[in-house]
Parts: sequence; structure tokens; C-alpha cells
Amino acid sequence: MNKPHLLLARAVFPEIVDRLAQHFHVVSNQADEVWTQAQLIAKLQGQHAAFTTGGDRIDGDVLAASPDLRICANMAVGYNNFDLEAMTRAGVLGTNAPDVLTETTADFGFALLMATARRITESEHFLRAGQWTKWSYDLFAGADIHGSTLGILGMGRIGQGIARRGAHGFGMQVIYHNRSPLTPEIEADLKARYVSKQDLLAQADHLVLVLPYSPSVHHTIGAAELACMKPTATLVNIARGGIVDDAALAQALANRTIAAAGLDVFEGEPQLHPGLLRAANVVLTPHIASASLPTRLAMAHLAADNLIAYFSGKPLLTPLNPEVLSRDLTAPIRENSGHA
Ligand code: GLV
Repeated sequence: MNKPHLLLARAVFPEIVDRLAQHFHVVSNQADEVWTQAQLIAKLQGQHAAFTTGGDRIDGDVLAASPDLRICANMAVGYNNFDLEAMTRAGVLGTNAPDVLTETTADFGFALLMATARRITESEHFLRAGQWTKWSYDLFAGADIHGSTLGILGMGRIGQGIARRGAHGFGMQVIYHNRSPLTPEIEADLKARYVSKQDLLAQADHLVLVLPYSPSVHHTIGAAELACMKPTATLVNIARGGIVDDAALAQALANRTIAAAGLDVFEGEPQLHPGLLRAANVVLTPHIASASLPTRLAMAHLAADNLIAYFSGKPLLTPLNPEVLSRDLTAPIRENSGHA
């Protein structure tokens, strides 16, 4: 069989491009252009597969205009850039990249929590600006991590990694809220206690958001929820933009409704709410929670593994809508015209 055609929607490690080129006719984007929907559709013409990242939206319009597409492999654990129902209807498989990023992302969630509570970036800006002239008793005094109450909203693999670090590394009391409680064995291992969302907001000294985005969790943390938190609390979001109402958070930071926030994800990123950019009591990072080199490489290999497995008739590693497989695995790939 001729090689299938693959679009790499964003730049990726050269060794991944080389690996994929052994199995596919590859159209790459090593210039790392960020395409509009119309450009993405144009690039997808004649492609059987796409290697996507969280910014590449695959929705009903893209699918309707891309009849040859069979599979999109996301180099991200989150897949809210996929309209999975539309993909399933169109018979297009989606895969994501879970597990390989769990520990790296939990490390980062903890780093962001510590930087926020201990005011690390704020104090560094002060120092670099030449404002440090003397010691004083309350200079950048922040909140303690050890022994405090760590709240986690969304207790999947990454949430559990953060809980483990908090309970076992820092002697924190861990409380969490999730769609469903963990088993008693896992709770005991993590020393974590299930509470209502209301109790989580009210009791957490530090609240970390790690839940997947879907429209049903849009603005899960807004003005009303922020008002229920302790005025000394920190909020950390390593989940997705849109889970927090950024305008309400900017207001809450300005009013000191809560003490501080650490944010890796934003509504409408890479644009940020100007109130967040203005606030001193916020640590801002550009969506890098999984960004260690070994982990990003492992995520890219997992996306590639899925693509290669699919076209070799082997089981997919991390399918999101495996029901599609029973429908189309035997359908022949249409030969494209106009491609090498
Ligand atoms: C990053 O945000 C991911 O979903 O992997």
C-alpha cells in the first residue's frame, strides 16, 4: 500500500518528523505557522492523518471540508480542541497523550503553587528593579506550604500526583473534589479526603485546578466561588483557560479577595486579561506545565505511535473514540492526487 498522507499542524522535534516520514508522506510545518481555520482546512486537503496540538481545532466544519481525514493524534492530554462527537460522527479517530506527562505536570503544578505562595517572581522583579535596599520583617512574607491545607479540584492522574507531593513531601492535609470520589485505598495512599466543592473552596489554603475542560465546567471558578475562598488563599490553574473567569479573578486579586494566583493557562491565550498582567500578586507562565524536554518528546512519540499503529492495523495506544475503529478499519485509503 502507498504511504498515507500526514499533516503535522505545528512544528515538532525533527526526530519525530524523521520517524513519521518513514511511514507517511509528511507535510510538516517546521516554520511553526499558526494557521487560521481556513488555512488548516486547505492544508488538510488530501491528508489521511493529522498530528495536532491543543491549539488546532478539529470541529464539524473542518471535518466536513476534509473528507480523507481518518485520524487526528493530539500531542496533549487535554483534547478540548477536538469536537469528539463530530469526529465520531465523521468516522475520524482522535487520540491524546496521557500518562507520559503526569509526573512532569504535577511537578510544575507544585512549583507554581510554591512560587505563588512564597511570592518568588514578585520578589525577583523587585530585586531586578533595584528596589532592594534593606531587610525588613515582612518583606515578601507569603503563605506556608508545609502543614497547610491543599485543595485539589479534579482528581485524575495529575491531581493525584499533586496530592502525593503535598501529603508525602510537605505534610499537607489534602482535600479534593471530583465527579466521583477515589477508592478508599487510593484515598489512604494519598492521605486525601473527599469534600463538597463548597467545603473545598472554604477550607483550602491553596487550591489547585486540574480538571479537564468541557463547556460544563466553563467558569467553574468565578466571582461567587472566589468570594468563598480564604482571603489568605492561593489559586493555581494548570488545567485549561475558561475554567476560571479571568476577569473575575483579576478583580479578586486587585481587591485581595484571595491573596494570590499562579496561572499557566488563560481564557483566549496567548492573549491575557489586562488585569492579570497588571496584578503583582499573580505568577504567570505560558502554558508550559508539561514542558520538560523528555516529557514533550515522549508526548510527541506517543502521538506518532498512535498514527503508525493505526495505519499498520495495530491497536491504538490511547484512542479517545475507539468506537470508530469497528466502523472503518477495513475501508481502503483513497489515493490522493496532487501529492508525492
Ligand atoms: C496540555 O495542556 C495538555 O493538555 O497536554
